[in-house]
Amino acid sequence: MGFDLIVTNGIIVTASEVLSPGIEIGIKNCKISCVGLFLPRTENTQIIDARGGYITPGGVDSHVHFAQDNCPTGDDFTTGSRSAIAGGTTTVIAFASQEKTETTVLPCVEKYHTRAKDQSYCDYGFHLILTNPTPKIMATEMLLMIEQGITSVKLYMTYEPMKLGDAQVLDVLMAARTLGFTTMVHAENSDMISLITDRLESAGHTAPYFHAISRPQIAENEATYRIISLAELTDVPILIVHMSSETAMKHVRKAQTRMLPIHAETCPQYLFLLSERLKGTHEDAFEGAKCVCSPPLRHDPKDLEAMWQGIANGTFTVFSSDHAPSNYHSSGGKKLGLKGDVMSYRDIPNGVPGVETRLPLLFSYAGREKDSRLSLQRFVQLTSSDPAKMYGLEGVKGNIAVGYDADIVIWYNEKDLEEGVTIQQSELHHGVDYTPFEGMKVKNWPRLTFLRGKKVWDRDNGGVVGDVLDGKFLRRGKGKIVVGRTGGEVNGMLPGERDFWC
Ligand code: URP
Ligand code: ZN
Ligand code: ZN
Ligand code: ZN
Repeated sequence: MGFDLIVTNGIIVTASEVLSPGIEIGIKNCKISCVGLFLPRTENTQIIDARGGYITPGGVDSHVHFAQDNCPTGDDFTTGSRSAIAGGTTTVIAFASQEKTETTVLPCVEKYHTRAKDQSYCDYGFHLILTNPTPKIMATEMLLMIEQGITSVKLYMTYEPMKLGDAQVLDVLMAARTLGFTTMVHAENSDMISLITDRLESAGHTAPYFHAISRPQIAENEATYRIISLAELTDVPILIVHMSSETAMKHVRKAQTRMLPIHAETCPQYLFLLSERLKGTHEDAFEGAKCVCSPPLRHDPKDLEAMWQGIANGTFTVFSSDHAPSNYHSSGGKKLGLKGDVMSYRDIPNGVPGVETRLPLLFSYAGREKDSRLSLQRFVQLTSSDPAKMYGLEGVKGNIAVGYDADIVIWYNEKDLEEGVTIQQSELHHGVDYTPFEGMKVKNWPRLTFLRGKKVWDRDNGGVVGDVLDGKFLRRGKGKIVVGRTGGEVNGMLPGERDFWC
């Protein structure tokens, strides 16, 4: 017997507790095998001194885009996962994206497996982006997907090459009801956005800032209410991804108050950045392109504040990065979105980088100081334990408890990092050439990251010390619902009315 590794002298934080200093973590065969006081040492036990810092479960980032065809200059699995571990994230869930012309999803899933296998520093899973949910896929291939551990799908209500109409969304929701996969939805009204985009373009308004004008809050608001209604009708849990605005979030809150199983996600960009960032600088009028993402950055600090409230009060189940960057300076020397001499925001690939900065940004506001916005436990829920539960990794990821994978982040004792850390592109590990959080100060940073008991990040001694062979594909189980109940009555329907058809 004896432990391979003991982590000592830190303060362990889980989704429910902040444990007393002195409690140690014993690791054996890549798993946490004991959490307690005075764990026995043998001559083969390696001791890791947390130096009085906080210890949290490895981050679970359940929304990253790696190696996708529509981000040709973005991160692949190697650069994206390297960036993940350097920021304390040990599990990512990326996407395998079906093309609209494909009537089967099997080759596309194989393609993404090939892109990830032996190329990831952290553990990974896939959600399936469904752009053409044929009856055959929904009836037979989704069963196979679930058996293979791909237990969630993402649907788009916008973007011409990806969007589904309501009838298709309902087909997927009915299949989810039968098969038990989790449905994520990108909720923005596509036709509203197209109308505004065409009219802006005719008037010559094509600078990056007009991206924000073309996707007003009402587009997110309407689609959010619509998808909640479709989920209520069919009695299926959903998760609305990357929410950005107060009005839309209120629909989620209201649905949750009625005990509907409606989940939501927000991301760092919607807590910290405003649409003014889409305006170029004096030196570079096009620089706003760096901050083009959808939904767009909002105009009003009140929206940032509303997202913070949703973080604190439980409206959001998941805080993910939506890491979906493209290089600002592409290889031909042309800037992203610049076609010839004409620039139009329409051609700027959507998405910002953030897999590495996600945990440090939120951790800076977690705790009991007067400027804190959430508890340490809530930080762990949002960044690790609830995404793990939501996407079928409960019992494996997202907790510091016996039987879980030994995925552990050790933060600095703040006495050892009095100045905090200033976020700088030159210090980050992704493959793209900018961060939208440049110059922002965070209070702390992961000093050490362990993946299944192996040290993969040591900020003071070598940085990335893991290997691309370390990350394993995660065959996920079905997600556990973390809010709401199913089987409730529908607003305005007679009790039991749905039983006639559902
Ligand atoms: O702007 C974004 N969010 N791009 C990534 C793709 C998506 O919609 O998640
Ligand atoms: Zn999306
Ligand atoms: Zn995304
Ligand atoms: Zn480095």
